[in-house]
Amino acid sequence: MPEFIPLISEEEINTRVQETGEQITKDYKDLDLVMIGVLKGSFIFLADLSRKISIDHEIDLIGASSYDGTSSSGQIVFTKKPDLELKGRDILLVEDIVDTGNTLLKIVDFIQLLNPRSIKICSLIDKHERREVEINVTYSCFSLEKGFIVGYGLDYNEKYRNLPAIYDLKL
Ligand code: IMP
Ligand code: MG
Repeated sequence: MPEFIPLISEEEINTRVQETGEQITKDYKDLDLVMIGVLKGSFIFLADLSRKISIDHEIDLIGASSYDGTSSSGQIVFTKKPDLELKGRDILLVEDIVDTGNTLLKIVDFIQLLNPRSIKICSLIDKHERREVEINVTYSCFSLEKGFIVGYGLDYNEKYRNLPAIYDLKL
């Protein structure tokens, strides 16, 4: 049986999501904010974060998966592209966790082609140990050195996204 070691509580998540939402509200008050959630892991974070932002903003989704399905460093295909017009707008990519950074770097390159005014990244977790590319995570709720975590949207083989807190998974 896998072991779930409590890492971040519901209360801690709520506090950091609130603080991050307030910061984004301030930073984007004179901008044209479009939040784009990266499927699927960001869906809970995106829903909560959006409700902590008190300026008008729009929401879209993007889906990307690795071509060979095993590593994030190869080609990616987009399973869902944003529907909104992004030209000239201020894009905030919302991700569950940045690990190597490869997926997000390719998403940023793709969004760039749509000529937004700005692109920034907001990730629930910024995980450092395996970073392979230089990527600037402007907003992150939590920093993690290493480990594999689940809950609050984060999965292991598509399961455990529904856990309200975040756990270190020991297999
Ligand atoms: P990257 O391209 O290596 O940065 O891949 C990031 C993606 O890998 C995330 O969006 C997650 O779907 C997945 N991932 C990386 N680390 C974890 C983890 O600790 N738990 C759950 N999913 C993870
Ligand atoms: Mg995942």
